[in-house]
Amino acid sequence: MLTDKFDRTFPYLRLSITEVCNFSCQYCLPNGYQKSNGPSFLSQDEINRLVDAFIELGVWKIRLTGGEPSIRKDFTDIARMIAAKPGIETMAFTTNGYKLKENAQTWRDAGLNAINISIDSLNAKKFHQITGHNRMAEIRDGIDKAIEVGFDKIKINVVLLKAINDDELDLYLDYVKDTPVSVRYIELMQTGDNLHYFNKYHLSAEHIKTQLIERGWVENIRAIGAGPAVNFSHSDYAGSIGLIAPYSKDFCSGCNRLRITSTGDLRLCLFGNVGVPLRHMLQNDDQKEDLKAAIAKQLNYKASTHFLAMGDTGILSNLSSTGG
Ligand code: 5AD
Ligand code: SF4
Repeated sequence: MLTDKFDRTFPYLRLSITEVCNFSCQYCLPNGYQKSNGPSFLSQDEINRLVDAFIELGVWKIRLTGGEPSIRKDFTDIARMIAAKPGIETMAFTTNGYKLKENAQTWRDAGLNAINISIDSLNAKKFHQITGHNRMAEIRDGIDKAIEVGFDKIKINVVLLKAINDDELDLYLDYVKDTPVSVRYIELMQTGDNLHYFNKYHLSAEHIKTQLIERGWVENIRAIGAGPAVNFSHSDYAGSIGLIAPYSKDFCSGCNRLRITSTGDLRLCLFGNVGVPLRHMLQNDDQKEDLKAAIAKQLNYKASTHFLAMGDTGILSNLSSTGG
């Protein structure tokens, strides 16, 4: 198993397969995705080799992210290919949900078993304002469909935005009363592109925590190997609420993930200052041992924490190239 100097282990790989996204969330791609002339996104063969190496290094959970991963025409094929590999227990993806309703069954059949879907507001107008798309109702239908076809781990991501959606906790609580999903509030993160937006709309997740405790919700004991979310539950509710607070102390001690960008760079940390190119080692099957050695070596350089509190967002310009 991959281990760093701080005894953290890395069973979990987040793999961005495209930067393209059809939504224009205010905090991520406010002007929509802008086509660039950079390198192409990893091919299915390159992804295959990369994943094989990571599985041999102990990875058993893989998440496909973007941009919007389902925009790729071969998204289902990529998912099927990875899910079929011995050793993969959790095959997850993150989506804005725009094609979930039509494709939930196909994706489940391909072997995907966990989904994160973003719904930043349960108010249709605000959802439209934040994402640029008036599609909240159809995305909720997509979630119902995903439950129906047997996805067992469904998470709803909500980026907490001051004076935009910070008054909606009771709407989300109504939603999880009978719906077995985990709603996770994510604190807005500063990236290279969004400083002005961040200063205006960042709000600490403590705001939600206080309200949860007032309403009788209880913080769960952290499971070993759990990621950085702090989860709350309540016996009267089918679902749960999680808080992801990257600015809080100790956030990084639970880090269990590595990231690969859509063009094949290894990112040790979302907010790190280096991307280590791996693509040249994905060109033929004989390179696997070199690739594994290169990845294991990089782990020695993984820092204990990020430097966000000092305003250092590393080389991250927005989350469309690395996924959330
Ligand atoms: N801060 C917090 N969350 C973000 N996401 C994208 N950009 C940011 C940011 N700057 C979220 C998306 C999605 C997840 C992949 O990351 O809303 O839920
Ligand atoms: Fe891990 Fe970096 Fe995220 Fe901290 S900010 S949890 S070190 S990836």
